[in-house]
Amino acid sequence: DWTMGAYREQMIATIREQVGDKQVICGLSGGVDSSVAAILIHEAIGDQLTCVFVDHGLLRKNEADEVVGMFRDNYNIRLIHADESDLFLGELEGQSDPETKRKIIGKLFIDVFQKHADTIDGAEFLAQGTLYPDVIESVSFSGGPSVTIKSHHNVGGLPEKMGLKLVEPLRELFKDEVRALGRELGLPQSFIGRHPFPGPGLAIRCPGEITREKLDILREADAIYIDQIRKHGLYDDIWQAFVAILPVRTVGVMGDGRTYDYACALRAVTSVDGMTADYYPFSHEFLGETATRIINEVKGINRCTYDITSKPPGTIEWE
Ligand code: XMP
Repeated sequence: DWTMGAYREQMIATIREQVGDKQVICGLSGGVDSSVAAILIHEAIGDQLTCVFVDHGLLRKNEADEVVGMFRDNYNIRLIHADESDLFLGELEGQSDPETKRKIIGKLFIDVFQKHADTIDGAEFLAQGTLYPDVIESVSFSGGPSVTIKSHHNVGGLPEKMGLKLVEPLRELFKDEVRALGRELGLPQSFIGRHPFPGPGLAIRCPGEITREKLDILREADAIYIDQIRKHGLYDDIWQAFVAILPVRTVGVMGDGRTYDYACALRAVTSVDGMTADYYPFSHEFLGETATRIINEVKGINRCTYDITSKPPGTIEWE
């Protein structure tokens, strides 16, 4: 891609000029945005960059290993892997209000990030994979009045608190452009094509109280759902797909026994930038087969629904 090749060179020059010989820290989420930002910055300044991957215990099945593995195996980027799941899940215990959950996660994330960033001598810059739509959505929503729909989990406020300057090389780009840049930088297609994953992770796909039990059930169901989508060749046609575990248990029958287990909702949407979205029109056959697999293979779920809400009036995530 000629345009992205030019953008890459231009951004590398800009980053070098901005950073000089100082140190940069970057929060890695495992998503495409922060990964592309990190790799671009690494290309510009090498070991002056240190990435911090905070595992809040709200990641999907195998996610931490996949992300850390990808960076360790394919790139020589300095990386701190911070397993802080006990801290996050402990603080979230008993909390069921969506905004409270988001705020707890956002605050802890900042604390933990700061703790690890403090171990890097002379860090003066913080790198973020902020995209153009993030810049817009934090100002207004769908062109409407300025109103906060959800507290976004990012490191807002952190730069000032830590006295850090921001490096945001993706600020002018839309999602599809970030993917093109990732391709340009040689990121594997399997990684570039990954669906977006929100900072608060599975917390906002687990309405109501979060427990380790529910998270484990959710991880298993989600992995099967994504496997089904990949097997049917639908992954790249969908903007985002995931399972939400509902805070309700329902009665079912399995073999000659009665079950009383959680219900879950499957979500899949098409979208251009996440600002608006339509539910994905799966075939009934696909939905039936997927529900059967989840209910048979995941202990703890005995009912599956499909979420057919568009955005607006719904949002993509459940909280
Ligand atoms: P909603 O649910 O608001 O989500 O329709 C729109 C897009 O944003 C993602 N999302 C987040 N991403 N931090 C993020 O980095 C967040 O706090 C957050 N909340 C939602 C969501 O997955 C979807 O792609």
